Amino acid sequence: MRRLLLLHGPNLNRLGRRDPEHYGTVTLADIERHVRAVASAHGFDEVRAFQSNHEGALIDEIQRAADDCHAAIVNLGALTHTSYALHDALVDFGRPVVEVHLSRISRREPWRRVSVIRPACIGAVEGRGIAGYDEALRRLAEESGR
Ligand code: DQA
Repeated sequence: MRRLLLLHGPNLNRLGRRDPEHYGTVTLADIERHVRAVASAHGFDEVRAFQSNHEGALIDEIQRAADDCHAAIVNLGALTHTSYALHDALVDFGRPVVEVHLSRISRREPWRRVSVIRPACIGAVEGRGIAGYDEALRRLAEESGR
């Protein structure tokens, strides 16, 4: 049983209503539904989706996933740019992780261009909206030789 952790951080529960110029009108439920629908084509039997506005809850979820998930796709919102604790949790997770951002963070405010979790990830996809999650799944499949 290959399980994928799909993790979303602060404010991403507001997708669909929040800043549509940057994030479009897709909702978090749309993203989770989409990833669940296409994950099996990339070798995953199950997707565990989790969102929290709290750093500690996200760390707890990553620690839990270390027991039974084989890879992760993470969009940690603004914690991407600040949280060394999430970086460390992802390193400790020890499975391949791809970072996704709906918006093109490398062309936004200077502070948003830095991802402190990047070194814990095998790749990053930005600025492709919901299609970024397909790209992340492809990269994870490639990494596991599928
Ligand atoms: C985001 C980019 C972050 O800078 C921002 O704080 C978010 C969303 C994105 O998906 O583009 O909450 O991760």
